[in-house]
Amino acid sequence: MLQDKITQYTAEIDAFATTNADELEQFRIKFLGTKGIIKDIFEEFKSVSTEEKRTLGKVLNEFKQLAEAKYQSLKEQEETSHSKKDAGLDLTLPGAGFEVGSRHPLALVRREIVDIFSKLGFVVAEGPEIEDDWHNFSALNFPEEHPARDMQDTFFIKKGGEKGDIALRTHTSSVQVRMMEAGKPPFRALMPGRVYRNEAISARAHCFFHQVEGLYVDENVSFADLKQTLFYFVQELYGEGTKVRFRPSYFPFTEPSAEMDISCTICKGAGCQLCKYSGWVEILGCGMVDPNVLENCGVDSKKYSGFAFGMGIERIANLKFEIKDLRLFSENDARFLKQYKTSLI
Ligand code: PHE
Repeated sequence: MLQDKITQYTAEIDAFATTNADELEQFRIKFLGTKGIIKDIFEEFKSVSTEEKRTLGKVLNEFKQLAEAKYQSLKEQEETSHSKKDAGLDLTLPGAGFEVGSRHPLALVRREIVDIFSKLGFVVAEGPEIEDDWHNFSALNFPEEHPARDMQDTFFIKKGGEKGDIALRTHTSSVQVRMMEAGKPPFRALMPGRVYRNEAISARAHCFFHQVEGLYVDENVSFADLKQTLFYFVQELYGEGTKVRFRPSYFPFTEPSAEMDISCTICKGAGCQLCKYSGWVEILGCGMVDPNVLENCGVDSKKYSGFAFGMGIERIANLKFEIKDLRLFSENDARFLKQYKTSLI
């Protein structure tokens, strides 16, 4: 009898309770599905007598509504209990924490260099990366058409202009010129910054890199001051006992000029791959500022003398951190960058 079936299923529906999504889905399929009980009962209903239809019709509709209402309310319960879990509403758990960033290894090394020289009274000076010929070359004693200009493969931007061709600066010596032009001696400054050279990119060369140059101009500045200053720098940066040596060199803007080597930071002079088994590695160029440069910048070369030096930050960082491929510095791979720390943060 249809009525009996409905009574029995009504009891079953009333007794049903769950917040489990699978069980609830089983319930829906069993009663409300396209091949479910309600569908069957409505089929059966078609064949009952007209008289019975009158009373049973109402019962049937109520039964259907009961099943639907039960399903809806259980579904809502199931969803709210589920979303509570998703939102991780356990307020006793500790917070998610922030990922702390890190400084770029080149920034770390630059800060360390600046920090060491600042103890000797050097201040930081900056200048533009787009320079004119005067500040990058002519004032620094590079004669017109002189092959020394080719030593630094230049990215030119524009021909002509009030102070010559416009280019990306090839060294931060241009900032020395700007500083001397703008002020009066004594000068004691460091010029950190990015420089550009038209070179093919490889593990050992890049079209841009970073320099720190230094300038010290005053009365009676001698080569001995230069040596002592750089010796102090090396002891601070690489540790006491690091040896230095100076080899004669050539730069248009210094006379005499030298290149400075330090005893290899890896093998301590015993010979290894890094120093090519010589025990020494070159770290910077330096010299006494050429009197022509002082005069070009409006400084009286009879009264004043000075020294200058320049180093590549990448080179210093390579020696410090034993990084073999220059390209890593500009690829922005956070896994690489965040490995490095120094005493300065
Ligand atoms: N400007 C030189 C370079 O870029 C470095 C240097 C600076 C050399 C100061 C001597 C004195 O190679």
